[in-house]
Amino acid sequence: MYEFVSGPLVWIAFIIFIGGSLYRIFYMLQSSKKEKVVFPHMSLEHSVASLIHWLIPFNNQYMRQRPVFTIVSFAFHICLVFTPIFLLAHVILIDESWNISWWTLSESVTDWMTIIVIAGAVFYLVRRLTDPVVKNVTDTSDFVLLAITVLPFITGFLAYHQWFGTNTMLILHILAGELMLIAIPFTRLSHMLFFVFTRTYFGSEQGHVKNSKDW
Ligand code: HEM
Ligand code: HEM
Repeated sequence: MYEFVSGPLVWIAFIIFIGGSLYRIFYMLQSSKKEKVVFPHMSLEHSVASLIHWLIPFNNQYMRQRPVFTIVSFAFHICLVFTPIFLLAHVILIDESWNISWWTLSESVTDWMTIIVIAGAVFYLVRRLTDPVVKNVTDTSDFVLLAITVLPFITGFLAYHQWFGTNTMLILHILAGELMLIAIPFTRLSHMLFFVFTRTYFGSEQGHVKNSKDW
């Protein structure tokens, strides 16, 4: 079981993740080209400015009005993206398979980053259950996506600390990681792929390049 989950299934998950992501981006660019009005009105200057502006915490009124949400949101996403990439165990596995390796974070740092992701997910969950405005626009899929996102972190944490039988937890962890990778291109988790485009579009709009106000 471990061999299958950590061998062929990892390949399948990465092929679907990368292939699916490229397909989604390619399809989106094709549709934008067909629209004929999107590209001529994009401005590189406004796009880059908007992207940088948005990636800096507390750089707009929306963020300043919600300091707790902004801090949680940035901490959650930074740890979510960088923990798996710079995790020692992951880099060792890749090095053993392909002889490629890169810089890693210390295990205690990635352990804390994992806790931050889990705490962030609890925050989002509580917010969805209690904030009347957010509750109003929440449906089952929001909880499912939150679960798909946090499960690799919960199971990775439990496997690392060797709770509940290491081998079983490791298999569950790898399955959870694969599920998350496969889900990214085909669910709303694809916001990871599209945020650059939505930002650049808004940036150009705010620069009054086209002024369509179609948002
Ligand atoms: C897809 C194949 C994956 C494999 C083969 C894999 C393998 C591993 C292994 C061997 C460990 C160490 C467990 C131990 O020390 O006993 C680990 C830990 C961990 N993995 Fe993965 N993983 C995968 C995907 C992912 C993904 C997609 C994520 C998150 C997005 C992730 C996040 C973590 C975390 C957060 C830890 C534990 C960190 C800690 O608390 O110290 N893994 N993984
Ligand atoms: C790397 C680029 C990414 C960017 C710029 C980004 C940006 C955002 C933004 C703006 C939100 C809206 C709420 C908030 O500010 O927290 C959000 C929510 C969320 N993101 Fe991301 N994201 C990225 C990657 C990811 C990835 C890779 C995942 C998981 C696979 C993910 C999972 C989530 C989840 C679960 C929520 C919703 C939380 C909730 O309200 O229930 N994000 N993201």
